[in-house]
Order: sequence, then structure tokens, then C-alpha cells
Amino acid sequence: MRLEAKRVLITGASSGIGAALALTLGGRGARLVLAARGRSRLEGTAAVVALRHPALPPPIVAPCDVADRDSVHSLCAATVDRLGGLDVLINNAGISVYGLAEYGSVADFQRLMTVNFYGPLYAMLEAIPVMRRQGGGLVVNVASVAALHGVPYLAAYSASKAALAALAQSLRAELHDSGIRLLTVYPGYTRTPLFDHEKKLGGARRPRNGYAAPETVARSIVRAIERDAEELVLSPPGRALSLLRGLVPGLVQRAMRVLATQLRVKEEVCHA
Ligand SMILES: NC(=O)c1ccc[n+]([C@@H]2O[C@H](COP(=O)([O-])OP(=O)(O)OC[C@H]3O[C@@H](n4cnc5c(N)ncnc54)[C@H](OP(=O)(O)O)[C@@H]3O)[C@@H](O)[C@H]2O)c1
Repeated sequence: MRLEAKRVLITGASSGIGAALALTLGGRGARLVLAARGRSRLEGTAAVVALRHPALPPPIVAPCDVADRDSVHSLCAATVDRLGGLDVLINNAGISVYGLAEYGSVADFQRLMTVNFYGPLYAMLEAIPVMRRQGGGLVVNVASVAALHGVPYLAAYSASKAALAALAQSLRAELHDSGIRLLTVYPGYTRTPLFDHEKKLGGARRPRNGYAAPETVARSIVRAIERDAEELVLSPPGRALSLLRGLVPGLVQRAMRVLATQLRVKEEVCHA
């Protein structure tokens, strides 16, 4: 896909991977709608894109809570209204909860499913009829390496991202003759504010090393869009997991147990 002048909606565009995607896509000449809950940080991303790419129409800033179906409906309707259609939907908004699953509540799981799974679902249910009328389009879902195999201390997160990846597989088959394509992205650890905002349940710590830069992740995603890829697994551990989980599942399980031991902490932080 050539991205020049394509109408692209990015959720979670105020920070991290989403903000980096906005900048990279701006460089390709895409027309952007940037969504997240907080308006001021979105405006910050839009201002940087406009500054770096002054020849382009400035990005449209559209505050939206993807956990709220009406809010997602308004976002997609406004996108189509302002740009005359939608060529690429990037479901990137996401949140995390970290720690021992047994310390979490059902509400923690529900919140992650709402933002990480239902949010993208709401947006896809809005975008697919629009893309069908246009004769095609692309949906990019930002999942995670944790969608490839349940990762210790990321139970709710892994479940929400695995659900999203499975949904995309079903839709890809159903939509194969519609001109609508789906790309699922499985990023590995990326240095973003995600970890500052996540709820900590306690019992474990995050790894200290091995984090990619969001700009690197964004460039890989944009190249995957341009070469019409269906899946993009990022990071060496992610690629190893993708390869080995089918070949030697026992080995992968053992590696997850080693990881669980390495990251376990004795002192348990309080959990509400
Ligand atoms: N960082 C990693 O290591 C990593 C690894 C694999 C996958 N991912 C995935 O990559 C995506 C981007 O994450 P990131 O690391 O770039 O995190 P981030 O910097 O925290 O960015 C998250 C973005 O999502 C928005 N957001 C959160 N809740 C939202 C909601 N309810 N409605 C609308 N927007 C919402 C945030 O803005 P507001 O708070 O203003 O709404 C922000 O723009 C996520 O789906 C994440 O799961 C990240």
C-alpha cells in the first residue's frame, strides 16, 4: 500500500508507539486523525507532525475513549465526515496491568478486555462497512508478543491481546474477498509511558533491559503496511516465541517458568 494521501485514523496517538506512528505516517504524506482520551497531549503530537511536515494538512485531533462505544462511533463518523472516507484504521490504544493474577480483581480483567479488545472491536465494526463501500481498506491491530503465549504477570494483558489477535484472524478470512485487509502487530517490550500508567498488582517486577524505541517499532509497522504484510512479530524474543511455541511447546513453557522465577519479588506491593 502506498500511504501518500491515505486517510488514516490512529487510536492512542498521544503517546509512545501511536505518537511515533503519527510522525512516521506524516512523513509518508498520510492524512491523519489522531485519537486518545486526553486532548492536550494529542494536540502536542499533532503540532509536532504539522511542524515536521508543513506541506500536509495538519492532523485532525479527535478525543475519544475507546472503552465507550458511542465515543468510538462519533470518532469514526467524524473521520469519514471530515476526510470523506477511511483507508487505514490503526487500533493502537491500549493499557496494561502487571503482577500476580491472583492479586488482581475481575474488574482488572474486564477493564483490559474493554480497552484492549472491545475498543478495537467497536472501531472495526464502524470501519468495516465504510471500507466495504469504498471497496477496500486496512485495519492494523497493535497486539503484543504477549498475545503469542500467555506471559507471567501479564495474564489479563495476554488474554486481551490474544483475543484481539484471534478476532483479526477470523475477520481476515471472512473479509478475504472484500478488499479489506488486516495486519496484526506483535510488538515486544518498547520504552513508552505504558509502564508508568499501568496498575501494579505486586509480586513481580518488569525486566530491566531489552526495550525497543517506539520510533523503531513505528517504522517497522509502517514498512509492514507498505509491503501488505498480515502479521508482524517484533523483537528477538517475540520472533523466537513465534517460531518455537508450535515446534517445542514444552521448552517454551519451561522458559516461561524461568522468566516467572526471575521476575518474582518477595515483597508484595499492596493491591486493591
Ligand atoms: N510498550 C510496550 O512494551 C508494548 C509492547 C507490546 C504492545 N504494546 C501495545 O502498543 C500500544 C501502544 O502502547 P504504548 O506502549 O505506546 O503505550 P502509551 O505510551 O501508554 O500509549 C497508550 C495510548 O493509548 C491511549 N489510551 C489509553 N487508554 C485509552 C482509552 N480508553 N481510549 C482511548 N485512548 C486510550 C493513551 O492516551 P490517553 O491516556 O490520553 O487516552 C495513549 O495515547 C498498546 O496497545 C500496547 O498494549 C506496547
